[in-house]
Amino acid sequence: MRDLLIATTNQGKLREFAELLPREGYRVRAGSDVLSPVPVIVEDGVTFADNARKKAQAIARETMCLTLADDSGLEVDALGGAPGVYSARFAGEGANDAANRTELISRLRALGTEQLRFSARFRCALCLFDPLASDDRRILEVDGVCEGSVVLDERGAGGFGYDALFVPNGHDKTFGELSSEVKHALSHRGRALSLIVASLAARAGTP
Ligand code: IMP
Repeated sequence: MRDLLIATTNQGKLREFAELLPREGYRVRAGSDVLSPVPVIVEDGVTFADNARKKAQAIARETMCLTLADDSGLEVDALGGAPGVYSARFAGEGANDAANRTELISRLRALGTEQLRFSARFRCALCLFDPLASDDRRILEVDGVCEGSVVLDERGAGGFGYDALFVPNGHDKTFGELSSEVKHALSHRGRALSLIVASLAARAGTP
């Protein structure tokens, strides 16, 4: 049984990975189970994929474990794609989810339109890094997108981050109101992860 390390300290992401990753063949572990302290990796990439690769490589090389990293965020068209790669620190370095949501609402209100909904999408880049694999199988990079809109009033207590403000296309409720099963079936992370799960299933049988 191989360890599969999740290179994140974000509790919301960890919960979703624990719900979605296969248990056969792998022991899913958080970075904090193996590393103390967990190294802080500066997320200075221009894209989600750059940051995911940087996190996966750094943790995999330190632990020699198969490592999965996620970099994700929200892009709002009316804000030119912000908060984007700055989603976790939109209200400033160290900001929590509630402060980031408040910042988003106030930036959208400051546009001065009568709009109550703004087109937006969640994006997720995943990088699976296998430090023991041959060069051609060492890195797998995938991404997932979930289109929808942002509302100006928070709704629902489920999920994390911007979930209480995001309504996926085809639904009237926010991710904060929808069940985790519905979120997983539609979400940027669920979509990207289904590609990783297929690759893990193939690797589980190989030494
Ligand atoms: P990262 O750790 O730099 O990838 O930060 C991602 C940030 O994007 C999180 O802190 C959340 O604010 C936001 N985010 C990413 N995925 C989700 C999601 O599934 N729901 C809500 N917010 C998300």
